[in-house]
Amino acid sequence: MCDLLVSHGLEPLEHDEWILDVPLVRSLIGDVRAAVARSVSAAEVCRVVEPSFSRLLTEPEWLPAQFQQDAPQSGMGGGIGQWLLFRAADRSLCLFSLVVPSGSMTPVHDHLAWGLVGLYKGNQDEEFYKPATANSTSFASVRSSRATTMCCFPLATTSTAYARRPT
Ligand SMILES: [Fe+2]
Repeated sequence: MCDLLVSHGLEPLEHDEWILDVPLVRSLIGDVRAAVARSVSAAEVCRVVEPSFSRLLTEPEWLPAQFQQDAPQSGMGGGIGQWLLFRAADRSLCLFSLVVPSGSMTPVHDHLAWGLVGLYKGNQDEEFYKPATANSTSFASVRSSRATTMCCFPLATTSTAYARRPT
């Protein structure tokens, strides 16, 4: 997730946090930062970085097992695990692994930031929703996807939220 163009008011960290410090992660973060430096929009950054992100998703060995586990005590519905891999000191960029166990489903959600979302292992359905009415907290399904990568943007700019479910 990334919100390099938005101030969020969080205190900066002392330094970047490389929880998983491996060459593929270093390379992706470097590619994102380079793309942000020369791009004019989040959509352009996503388009430029997508090949690098897709490469990461096809490499079978870089993500240790500890970051591929569900988390029954997480409090996220159905034992969904969320594992931070990288966080920028200015809090504008992070990389994390989300593990959605078979039989679970995320709630309909909005990341409140733009970013790239990809599928590393398994299969899933993603369902996209629009608010049923203006300022509504209920949503109506608008389409499904089985794409392995996608750019996502805040609900405020796209008017769609989504949920994912392993298949
Ligand atoms: Fe999501």
